[in-house]
Amino acid sequence: MYNAYFGLSANPFSLSPDPAFFYRSEQHEEALANLIYGVQSRKGFIVLSGEVGTGKTTMLECLRDFLDAQHIEFAFIFNSRITSDQFFEMIAYDLNLNCQRTSKTEVLFALNSLVVQQSDQGRTTVLIVDEAHNLEWEVLEEIRLLGNMENRRGKLIQVILAGQPELDRKLDAPNLRQLKQRIVLRCGLEPFSASDTADYINNRMEKAGLTNQTVLSAELMAEIHARSQGIPRVINAICDNLLLTCFAMEGKVATVEMLDEVSRDMRLEWPGHRPRGERVRFPEPHQETPLYTRRGGE
Ligand SMILES: Nc1ncnc2c1ncn2[C@@H]1O[C@H](COP(=O)(O)OP(=O)(O)OP(=O)(O)O)[C@@H](O)[C@H]1O
Ligand SMILES: [Mg+2]
Repeated sequence: MYNAYFGLSANPFSLSPDPAFFYRSEQHEEALANLIYGVQSRKGFIVLSGEVGTGKTTMLECLRDFLDAQHIEFAFIFNSRITSDQFFEMIAYDLNLNCQRTSKTEVLFALNSLVVQQSDQGRTTVLIVDEAHNLEWEVLEEIRLLGNMENRRGKLIQVILAGQPELDRKLDAPNLRQLKQRIVLRCGLEPFSASDTADYINNRMEKAGLTNQTVLSAELMAEIHARSQGIPRVINAICDNLLLTCFAMEGKVATVEMLDEVSRDMRLEWPGHRPRGERVRFPEPHQETPLYTRRGGE
């Protein structure tokens, strides 16, 4: 809506995981390099974890581009609330396996011949599972068994499990210790630092056609960082709303007042601030948190 007004050729703060807008912060660069290294060196199991909205799916999309460019066969499971029957069916569809896709036995046979054939050509096959923290135990166990397929040159299937930090906790469960033992590489995504947030915003504006943007000042970007706590998805939502507000008010430079309005509308909470109108919550009677801090450590 505001693109033409600011001289943008695309929406800079879309919420889709578009690799074209991928910003390579040091940690994102390192995590992507690790994923690629893990796949190429046939490491077997790789885990990518990070809080909600830190860029896991976007990174997997970048990996998907890499695999496409290298002609590496892969299955990308993005809906993880599935039964094991659905899991095999999805793999069969993604890898275009020539078999009766609803029969687990047939899928396993077809998958086996595909991975062996790929391996004979010096290639590996990859299974990517996004939102893996939602996987049922049963499906995780099937994934472990798939990851066991190997020949003398190494693993035939590289498995990448991406998910929120619950995934790490899930993998700590005693019944998953066999799977946990097979994880050879772990990558984590943390929220951006303040300087990354500013670079990220400038980078997205630039990719959308506005170099050296002046709509969002350095001070305002520092404030956006504080309010978003460095989470890319929240940064996008704030900036999108901010540009819209600025456009509606016919301004060319966003202000703190506009940011306040956007934060109220989004009911944003950040350290040291709570949405207006919310009551202070006192601890429940059984909680031992003191209501005030005594002075002088009395
Ligand atoms: N490194 C990055 N470069 C560009 N955009 C990013 C980056 N990281 C995250 N984003 C943007 O932030 C938003 C959220 O990213 P994404 O969906 O990848 O997060 P996620 O970790 O998969 O979240 P969830 O845990 O909810 O699945 C998207 O709009 C995405 O484009
Ligand atoms: Mg995601």
